[in-house]
Amino acid sequence: MLIRILGAAAGGGFPQWNCSCRNCADVRAGKLGFRARTQCSLAVSANGIDWVLLNTAPDLRQQINDTPELGARADGGLRNSPIKAAVLTGGDVDFIAGLLNLRELQPFTVYGSSRVLATLADNSVFNVLDPSVVERRELNLGSATAIHGAGGDTGLVIEAFAVPGKIALYLESGAASDNYGSREGDAIGLKISAPETGKHFFYVPGCATLDAELAERLKDAPLVFFDGTLYTDDEMIRQGLMKKTGQRMGHISISGAEGSITAFEPLNVARKIYVHINNSNPVLDDNSPERRATEAAGWEVGYDGMEIRV
Ligand code: MLT
Ligand code: MN
Ligand code: ZN
Repeated sequence: MLIRILGAAAGGGFPQWNCSCRNCADVRAGKLGFRARTQCSLAVSANGIDWVLLNTAPDLRQQINDTPELGARADGGLRNSPIKAAVLTGGDVDFIAGLLNLRELQPFTVYGSSRVLATLADNSVFNVLDPSVVERRELNLGSATAIHGAGGDTGLVIEAFAVPGKIALYLESGAASDNYGSREGDAIGLKISAPETGKHFFYVPGCATLDAELAERLKDAPLVFFDGTLYTDDEMIRQGLMKKTGQRMGHISISGAEGSITAFEPLNVARKIYVHINNSNPVLDDNSPERRATEAAGWEVGYDGMEIRV
């Protein structure tokens, strides 16, 4: 399998358009040790020709143009695309808005939980993806789905599973005690396998906590892309950016007793890469002590264009 990080930043990207926090100001100024990142998406291919997108960020047009493998082929006819399917792990803007870039009557298949497909159905703007051209298929949680797109099988099988998390911000309703109206399927993780080679990896870009079930699932995994939104739960409050903690946003933090570095320690995961990194996160500075601590704990900090072959 070929895996490429199209975007490693969280919603808003890095820098975020209206933000002049320390990190955003430094990356905008071109300071050494900082690199810009677009919003959260991965591309995967079993054969190096047909590609499946894991989430579709608002930056997708730029991401495709920055990735020659994802562009229309010169020898593929007047209209063609190597993008055969898109798999959505939630209804967040940074996960679904990129679908709007994929209009223009190109056949491919959109996969999501029933909750996410309901959100697409409720928002008529997504009908620019003509339903007679772009099929929408439900991912049943806990069972493996062979991913098909225009032209047939992509050679990838995906198992979606519920993870602790939250409904998209713009869909929140009700009280904290009801987790703002969140239901199973609002936040999912993916196990992506290529049956031909027997290889697999996990993609969990949004996750509130590593409960026993998720820990068991990820144990001994060869490769996990994981939620790296914040370094500390209250960093956005301390930086004066927002009044919300990471927990309130449905995101586990990297550091601390409840954080992902600690939670992954007993799991024997061979390769661990943070994605969905918020612009407030000090690990975005290559030279920060937090970055050093993260790498010393065996984690990599994802960046746009990062390529992995498994
Ligand atoms: C999140 O990851 O918490 C959301 O993308 C936040 C947002 O929609 O701004
Ligand atoms: Mn997000
Ligand atoms: Zn910022």
